[in-house]
Amino acid sequence: MCGISGIVSSENIAKDLFSSIRNLEYRGYDSCGLAVYAEGKIQLRKNTGEVDEVNKKERLTQLVGNLGIAHTRWATHGGVTKENSHPHFSANMEFAIVHNGIFSNYQKLKSELSAEGFEFRSMTDSEVFAHLVERAYAQSPNVENAFVSSLLQVEGAFATAMISIHEPDLLFCAKNVSPLMLGLGESRNFIGSDINAFLEFTKTAVTLDDGEYAIVGKQDYRIKDVATKEEKEKNVFTIHWDVESTKKGGYSHYMLKEIFDQPFTTKQALKIEKEEIEKMAKMIQQSQLCYLVGVGTTFYVSMVGQYFFAQFAKRHLPAVSSDEFKDIAILSDKNMMLTVSQSGETYDTKMAINFAKSFQSKTGAIVNVMGSAISMMVDNVIMQGSGAEICVVSTKAAFSQMMILLRIVLEVARLDNHLSEDQYKEYYTALEDFPDVIETALNEQSGFIRNMADTSVKIHNWLFLGCGVYFPVAMESALKMKEVTYLHAEGMATGFLKHGTLAMIDESLYSLFFVPPPDQIDLHERTLIAIEEIKARGGKVYGFIFEGDEKSEQLLDHLIRLPKVHFLVAPFLEMIMAQLFAYYSALKLNRNIDKPRNLAKSVTVA
Ligand code: M6R
Repeated sequence: MCGISGIVSSENIAKDLFSSIRNLEYRGYDSCGLAVYAEGKIQLRKNTGEVDEVNKKERLTQLVGNLGIAHTRWATHGGVTKENSHPHFSANMEFAIVHNGIFSNYQKLKSELSAEGFEFRSMTDSEVFAHLVERAYAQSPNVENAFVSSLLQVEGAFATAMISIHEPDLLFCAKNVSPLMLGLGESRNFIGSDINAFLEFTKTAVTLDDGEYAIVGKQDYRIKDVATKEEKEKNVFTIHWDVESTKKGGYSHYMLKEIFDQPFTTKQALKIEKEEIEKMAKMIQQSQLCYLVGVGTTFYVSMVGQYFFAQFAKRHLPAVSSDEFKDIAILSDKNMMLTVSQSGETYDTKMAINFAKSFQSKTGAIVNVMGSAISMMVDNVIMQGSGAEICVVSTKAAFSQMMILLRIVLEVARLDNHLSEDQYKEYYTALEDFPDVIETALNEQSGFIRNMADTSVKIHNWLFLGCGVYFPVAMESALKMKEVTYLHAEGMATGFLKHGTLAMIDESLYSLFFVPPPDQIDLHERTLIAIEEIKARGGKVYGFIFEGDEKSEQLLDHLIRLPKVHFLVAPFLEMIMAQLFAYYSALKLNRNIDKPRNLAKSVTVA
């Protein structure tokens, strides 16, 4: 849940090293620091605060040297203090380390090292590693051996990187579960928690697998197995992301930029080769039971998939939250799971995949980040190609995942003969027209949505309501609202109201309805009943509706009227409007939109 980076070069690296943790800041942002080697010494500067703040306080970019490591932290073990920030020195300051994840046996190691006289400067689990390396080096002065013997002593999910005054031209790094990659440049090489650490410098990368370590020089690198020290042959791949896609491009926040990226990322999702979609569809078709698995937003993405599979392919694919998967899934070699993950590094989802694999179930994934763990773990992966998503809250990535799932659903439905060629063509046309529809709606509706947000930030409790596929859309939209505004928003199916929630309704409770187009007669009627139920008890009702929906117009206290669209894409257009609503509400409330408090972009720990 932190960002690690490192550079070894023939030139001064401090500015680039700083820039690289700036690009990783979405992984954690409560403190940061750099350690840079020069002239027989490691200079280490760190402090609490966001990356730019710490740079002002500590002048990180003014460090001088050609070898260094850096870290941006999201605290787990030990509070947010300067001492607990990374990098950490060994006692003799000859080694500096950074660490992401958890050394689960650190307490035992700490007691052992303390008894031997090592003094700890921090409350972190990470610091033990620096002392372990110092101790091992004292016994046998070889940095690689000391690094590996320390790796053999630590347990847990982690990634770590180290520099030492005894090897002034080399970076050492290793990983187990938590992500780590190498970036290969000219006369300089990089390491990073993900490709954003070095995307502005190189697009050539290598992924480290669990149980591997790397020794990285400015011209070359070696990757070895921690257990055997044997050198490994690794795939070098090219990153197809555009650096521009990681910049704000004139928008005031990444969230807003990423919302406005959606016409483009939808096109990208539609460009994924039909063969890839078909391959996943056939896997699902051949399985006895397929689970759709994700967590947080990707759980809601999976729920959308569940509704569409039932509706179009007449198949039940249960959506399960990754963290609950092992408690509920019935697995065998005839079953499969299809996971969804933006980062491809989410701990809960990785554990769910491992669980399925232990039953020889087939695994598939839709993933955004190339080279990420999940993309490598599964039998079949679809890379969604949405470009870097920097804002901690997921918008464009989740949206594309829904589009890709919908394509898979249509393929399964076609293979199973539940869709005629004409219907299939009609649905694809709706999808192909959708990017332009989104573009127009974003431009036309932003002002209205901003106005709705500006006048409603005094409301601290929301119910977001929908039925059918609009239910998971309401859930996802409520999560967006919670994440960026810190206000309470509860996503719910309209039918739940009369089974308990109506007791809460009075004039202080506001609801936002995701109203389907009137030609979706059953869903529309059920939604209207719920609106009436709330109105009858004095509650205030807001809603997203489509043109021509006079009944809803008469009932709603505040509405956003969207152009008529194909029923297939209608829920998604409303979801985009809800993203904007969350964004503008957070803007009015002056929240830290791209980096909401207490959250991190990839949740790589248990
Ligand atoms: O990287 P993943 O898609 O696997 O992440 C899953 C969740 O942690 C993520 O969707 C989280 O809920 C976001 N903060 C949503 O905006």
